[in-house]
Amino acid sequence: MGAFPQTIHFIGSNTPRRLEISVRNLDVEGQIPREIEGAFFRAVPDSAHTPMFEDDIALNADGMVARFNFENGAVDYDIRYVETERYKAEKKARRALFGRYRNPFTDDPSVQGVDRTVANTTPVWHGGRLFMTKEDGRGYEINPHTLETAGKWDYYGALRSETFTAHPRIDPETGEMFFFGYEAGGLCSLDVAYGIADKDGNLTSEQWFEQPYCATIHDFVITGKYAIFPIFPTLADLERLKAGGPHWAHHQDLESWIGIMPRYGKVSEMKWIKGPPGVSSFHQVNAYDDGDLVHIDLCLTETNAFGFMREAGGIDKPQQEIQGALTRWTIDMSQADPQIHERPLGPPGDLPRLADADQGRPYSHAWYLSMNPQGGPPMPGGPVGANFNALLRIEVGNGRLELMGVPPGAAISEPAHVPSSEPGHDGWLLSVIDIPNHPDPSQQVPGDYTSELWIINAGEVAKGPVAKVRTGLPLRSQVHGTWVSREKLNASKLQA
Ligand SMILES: [Fe+2]
Repeated sequence: MGAFPQTIHFIGSNTPRRLEISVRNLDVEGQIPREIEGAFFRAVPDSAHTPMFEDDIALNADGMVARFNFENGAVDYDIRYVETERYKAEKKARRALFGRYRNPFTDDPSVQGVDRTVANTTPVWHGGRLFMTKEDGRGYEINPHTLETAGKWDYYGALRSETFTAHPRIDPETGEMFFFGYEAGGLCSLDVAYGIADKDGNLTSEQWFEQPYCATIHDFVITGKYAIFPIFPTLADLERLKAGGPHWAHHQDLESWIGIMPRYGKVSEMKWIKGPPGVSSFHQVNAYDDGDLVHIDLCLTETNAFGFMREAGGIDKPQQEIQGALTRWTIDMSQADPQIHERPLGPPGDLPRLADADQGRPYSHAWYLSMNPQGGPPMPGGPVGANFNALLRIEVGNGRLELMGVPPGAAISEPAHVPSSEPGHDGWLLSVIDIPNHPDPSQQVPGDYTSELWIINAGEVAKGPVAKVRTGLPLRSQVHGTWVSREKLNASKLQA
């Protein structure tokens, strides 16, 4: 096998590791709070083979499912490839057969028609099952105890959509999962599927609608009343794909949209509200109803945050110059022609985390990743090709911020949230920190680092971690992660 390209997608914290390993009883510094009992699952893209094209990107890498298992104060670590159809075909051939990111026209002819998804974006827990998801295909079910891949998930044959989002939303009271899939009817189709699964994991509703253009809909939000689809002008184009080009190109001149409908209503009730042109948001923190008002809190940037999506759209803007903010969009649904009213809530950043209990409801605080103004540059890498080096806790009502930095040159991954049983306690955050092995920045070698899992009191992030779990390993950058309690694991549909 040849060498991996020496681009941002394969160096630093994106250095391929390709190790399926299990380590028991990791070294722990400090005291792990007793109520942290369960598993932190992480989605880690890690190419099993050198890519077919030099300009391959991190998001195209095979999904691995990683797990930090917390049991009586001990922590174990496991990581396995998701055995997708694509992974199995390439494993057999001992080489990459799938070409450019989300472009089947660049594949080896031998894999024509084989499912291309790499299931590398978000571990989702619902209805007693664990899924590894990526928005270009259906989820793959994973046994949460063995990390073995059980197979593609289609709700016992009921799901029509060919795709399933990596960002469903679960109502904490009803236990229902609200989800969608775009390009639901095939490559570059305008079809969006909107689905609901009940708390036991049965599909109760699936409706299709068309979006204004074929955009990447990465995330969406729910409130008590509404399902809300934020749509930004990063577009797919079939002719570009057929010519071997990229799936996505950002269009700075095109308007954005909010599609909003009653969450238990019909898609024919969808209202389309025009938003500002050129902006982009991959993740929304939360949304909630306030009388007739709907508040939507987004990690908003003035253009697309992914360099390869800007480049395909002819936008020449360096990563570090992109402006943005944690932003609130408020819409008055009592108006005949509702408009978006925008105000900033906090500094720019992404990878927000909300307590599960606050989903779709008025909430007081959340967490997200950002840059520490005093921190210096973080390690290169990450799914976007730019890492963060600070964790923020924000009180959304007054904008009050608390910041936790990381050591010089280190990078921080999206935290998972573990609720506390203690009333008034914010709970705990679990976050992987990649720390360079050489403290002197001039001596640092890309990819030479060690990863630690930090456990942070979610109400006092500025105090830093209460415990550190030392893996002794350099872990490749994750995309998203999720926490699953021991109680839920014990009641899982698949057992060990
Ligand atoms: Fe995401």
